Amino acid sequence: MKIAILPGDGIGTEIVAQAQRAMQCLDLKFETETAAVGGAAYEAHGHPLPEATLKLAKDADAVLFGAVGDWKYDKLERALRPEQAILGLRKNLGLFANFRPAICYEQLTHASSLKPELVAGLDILIIRELTGDIYFGQPRGRREAPDGAFKGAPEAFDTMRYSRPEIERIAHVAFQAARKRNRKVTSVDKANVLETFQFWKDVVTEVHAQYPDVELEHMYVDNAAMQLVKAPKKFDVLVTGNMFGDILSDEAAMLTGSIGMLPSASLNEAGRGLYEPSHGSAPDIAGKDLANPLATILSVAMMLRFSLNQPEAADRIESAVQHVLASGLRTADIWSEGTTKVGTRAMGDAVVAAL
Ligand code: NAI
Ligand code: MG
Repeated sequence: MKIAILPGDGIGTEIVAQAQRAMQCLDLKFETETAAVGGAAYEAHGHPLPEATLKLAKDADAVLFGAVGDWKYDKLERALRPEQAILGLRKNLGLFANFRPAICYEQLTHASSLKPELVAGLDILIIRELTGDIYFGQPRGRREAPDGAFKGAPEAFDTMRYSRPEIERIAHVAFQAARKRNRKVTSVDKANVLETFQFWKDVVTEVHAQYPDVELEHMYVDNAAMQLVKAPKKFDVLVTGNMFGDILSDEAAMLTGSIGMLPSASLNEAGRGLYEPSHGSAPDIAGKDLANPLATILSVAMMLRFSLNQPEAADRIESAVQHVLASGLRTADIWSEGTTKVGTRAMGDAVVAAL
C-alpha cells in the first residue's frame, strides 16, 4: 500500500506526524513517501504544488494530506498561493466526491455549541461536489462592468456552472452512500434563484428514479443552514455543490464540538482518494502543540476503509479514538470542565497506547 504523505503548512506537520504514529501501530505494511505541498513547497521549490509532489500523489494508492495556507502568503498572486495546492490536487486527481461525516461522539455532547439533546447521537454525512461549481467555473476575472447601473465601474466576476454528468455522478454517490445508512438524501440547492441549481435539482430528481428505496428531499441552502442548527438529527445524507458544501460542512463541524474532530475523504471515479482533516492549517495555533490531531487520525480510518479495503484496521483506529475520549483526555478545542487537557503530542501518545 503506497501512501503519499503531504503534511503541508501550519498545524499540518504536527497532526500528520501523530497520524503516522497511529498508522505504525497497525499490523499493515505501508510504503510511505513524504513531499512538500502548499507554502512549504513554495518556500522550497517556488510552487505550491511541484510536479514531483503531484506525481507522487497520482502514483500512490492513497494520499494523506495535512493542511495548507498561511496569512503570510496572502500577498502572493493567486496561482502561487498555498491553497492552490489542494485545489490542484482535487482537479488533477479528479477527486469529485468529498465525504464529510459529522458525528457527535457521546463523550463530546457537551463540547457542542448546541444543546446536548439536539446533538446527542448525531451522525450525518455531507457529500460535497468538489471539482465544479463557482470555485472552478470559467470565465472569471476583473474588468470594467460592460452594462448595468454601474457600467464602466471596476468589477469582479466568477461563473457558477454544473454539467449533467457532474451532477449525475455525485447524485449516484449520495444515493449509494444513503443505502448503507438510513436511506434518506437531502439535496441542497438554490433552485428558486439560480439556474445552475434548478438544473441540479432536476438532474438529482432524475437519478433518484434508480433508487426508489431511498427517500429524496430537496431543500434550499438557506433553509438547510437553519435546519442544521435547529434539528440536525433529521438529516441522514446531504448532497450539494462545491460552495454550499464548503459552508454547510463547516457549520456541521461545529455541531460535533470542534472542526478538529472531523475527518474527510475525497474520492475519484476509480475509488482512489485523498484523506484530510476538514479544517485548515490553523496558523493561530501552529507550532504550539495545541492542535487536535484526531481529525487527521480519523482520516486515516477513512483511508483504510475507502481506498485500502482494510475495514478492521479502520474500526481499530475509531475504537482507539473513542477509548481515548472516554478516558477523559481532551485537546484545548474540545476541553470542558472535569476533563484533562493535553497537547497534540500527548493526544497522539494516548491513541498509540490505545491501539
Ligand atoms: P482553520 O480551519 O485553519 O481554522 C479555523 C479555526 O479552527 C481556528 O481558530 C483554528 O485554530 C481552529 N482549528 C482548526 N483546526 C484545528 C485543530 N485541529 N485543533 C484545534 N483547533 C483547530 O481555518 P482558517 O483560519 O479560516 O484558515 C487558516 C488557513 O488554512 C488559511 O490559509 C486557509 O486558506 C487554509 N485552509 C486550508 C484548508 C485545506 O488545506 N484543506 C481548508 C481550510 C482552510
Ligand atoms: Mg472550508
